[in-house]
Amino acid sequence: MIEVLVCDITRLEVDAIVNAANTSLLGGGGVDGAIHRAAGPELREYNRKLGGCPVGEARISPGFRLPAKYVISTVGPVWHGGTRGESELLEKAYRSSFELALAQGDIRSIAFPAISTGAYGFPKDRAAEIAVRVMREYEDRFDRIIACCYSEADAEHYRRELGAGS
Ligand code: APR
Repeated sequence: MIEVLVCDITRLEVDAIVNAANTSLLGGGGVDGAIHRAAGPELREYNRKLGGCPVGEARISPGFRLPAKYVISTVGPVWHGGTRGESELLEKAYRSSFELALAQGDIRSIAFPAISTGAYGFPKDRAAEIAVRVMREYEDRFDRIIACCYSEADAEHYRRELGAGS
């Protein structure tokens, strides 16, 4: 089941929330900053031992003070106009996050922010198309997949994709 919600991802009581991180995994602004603030300093300390994360890959950590059991930090691509494989890397970030959740074995509900569509500048409509396509591939392997948007406008992109070809 794929749901579109407009809310603060740090408040979701799901098994895993996905963070739109940077390659250091040590926190930043946007949703990364919100997740680190809500999880507490333990998240940064834990991630420090992971030695970073390449673009398109994902790493998992406990949720610490978050209601979510786990944080899956993934690194989306910076948008450079679409000529440097950005779409493939964004798809890889979603896929890496799902694969890591499956490998963990006890994640039945997972929430994603709109990866790369903030500071990294990825066009929201194209990002939503990629996100929904990969979510559909994994839909039967989770009880809940949530596209957690931070505005109604952002949610519209996902609702349009989910309406199409449903
Ligand atoms: N809950 C859900 N979504 C949120 C929240 C929140 N609390 N805060 C921000 N967002 C949304 C933004 O509105 C945007 O749609 O998350 C989406 C991703 O935006 P960014 O957080 O800017 O992430 P991204 O574009 O992937 O850029 C990542 O920014 O914060 C730094 O360290 C981070 O360097 C990395 C870069």
